[in-house]
Amino acid sequence: MSEQHLAVVVLAAGEGTRMRSATPKVMHEIAGLPMLGHALATATALGAQYVIPVIRHEKEKIEPYIHAFYPTVHISHQDDVPGTGRAVECALNVLPDGFSGAVVVTSGDVPLLDVQTIESMLDVHLTSGAGATLLTAVFSDPSGYGRIVRSDNGAFSSIVEHRDATEEELEITEVNAGVYVFDYLELKKALSAIGTHNAAGEKYLTDAAVEILKSGREVQALQVSDNWLVAGVNNRIQLQQVSAELNRRICEAWMLAGVTITDPQTTFIDITASLGEDVTLLPGTHLKGITRIGRGSTVGPEVTMLDTQVGENVSIIKSHIVGAVIDDEATVGPFSYLRAGTHLGAGGKIGTFVETKNAVIGAGSKIPHLSYVGDATIGVESNIGAGTIFANYDGVDKHHTVIGSHVRSGSHNVFVAPVTLGDGSYTAAGTVVRKDVEPGALGMSVAPQRNLADWVLDKRATTKAAAAAKKAKE
Ligand code: UD1
Ligand code: CA
Repeated sequence: MSEQHLAVVVLAAGEGTRMRSATPKVMHEIAGLPMLGHALATATALGAQYVIPVIRHEKEKIEPYIHAFYPTVHISHQDDVPGTGRAVECALNVLPDGFSGAVVVTSGDVPLLDVQTIESMLDVHLTSGAGATLLTAVFSDPSGYGRIVRSDNGAFSSIVEHRDATEEELEITEVNAGVYVFDYLELKKALSAIGTHNAAGEKYLTDAAVEILKSGREVQALQVSDNWLVAGVNNRIQLQQVSAELNRRICEAWMLAGVTITDPQTTFIDITASLGEDVTLLPGTHLKGITRIGRGSTVGPEVTMLDTQVGENVSIIKSHIVGAVIDDEATVGPFSYLRAGTHLGAGGKIGTFVETKNAVIGAGSKIPHLSYVGDATIGVESNIGAGTIFANYDGVDKHHTVIGSHVRSGSHNVFVAPVTLGDGSYTAAGTVVRKDVEPGALGMSVAPQRNLADWVLDKRATTKAAAAAKKAKE
């Protein structure tokens, strides 16, 4: 007997018209990954010799993603003949002559399917010697799905698509999950035998299962108990439902791993995020992309973080953070915007109404209030006064500002880059810093203040201000 092989076909060539979107259906995201990403993660985890995504519609929007994240898979292109059966037929062309063994078929629009379910299907399939094994589920609302027709003794007899079903068949609540294991040779034979005689004019993969049954081989139909695993996404309502369920599961998994989540309904955690023990997430927290939070940190309420690394015992309140690194014991917010390239050192502070970009802020340094810090390096334990602008842009180019350690800059400064404030320097309030300030110096650009005595009494004689001044002088 020849060696047993395994191939996994992932269907992603359909039009996805029910999404009404310029984005291909399988590229719509749930928990931070395109649905196709979830399907391919599962497919590749099976350890198959061949993983074959089939694409066609808007393939230019799908192919780069596959190349970038799953470079070892074998992409197949579906031809003009529509239907899931044709898609699989095209995929099989990738397999070398002499291939034999099992072919698993999954869909790019069934994102929650897990490895374990497929492995147990494979188990049943291989031990029973069936020609095909398919997965079913009982849905209280089966609309849109293919219905499983069983004979009187309960054995699988056929699958009827919703649009081809009779009134009576529409009553059936057991549906085809769209997940299959086939014997390769049986599948190949069956696909060449079936046509497109149905309401959609498509070559249905479901008909291949029936064809295999007709040829005398057994077809197993296994029911899942966790319906979410096989939930298909054809429209945006289903997209939201599946996303909400996956988010619920992700939150529960993190809670079991030691994270406090006070309101999982308003906390959204991408599957790519990771959290340490004793992290607390307050309501309205969104953790996106490759975001990591170290133990003991508290995030929220109302924080969005994308691709951000947070250390231990950090506090972040009501802020929007993209591509930043925040070290242990630092604090951020409320109401700040940290952009790409922000690195806040240990124990540092980015306070209220502060925007930072490409800014490396040393340990213990603080930018407490109302500032813009762009293209800057700040040493340790420096304090940037309230209302400071790092003027990094001359209209054409961006320039860098260097602030040393233990600097105390006054309120309402403008640092006109490129400029350097040396270690231990100070600046006066209201200074526009255009020249470097040497270590230990006080920089000031303020003109001496003049007070024009009785100006208000003369020039604004009838105002309340004048009356108040007059009273004060008496
Ligand atoms: C399909 C099944 C249905 C099952 C349901 C489960 C068929 C005929 N019907 O219906 O029995 O209950 O899944 O979710 O198989 N695709 C291609 N090429 C095509 C058409 C579709 O690759 O020509 C891909 C799609 O991109 C999608 C998957 O196959 O990822 C399923 O196609 P879809 O049109 O969503 O099928 P359903 O109507 O959901
Ligand atoms: Ca579908």
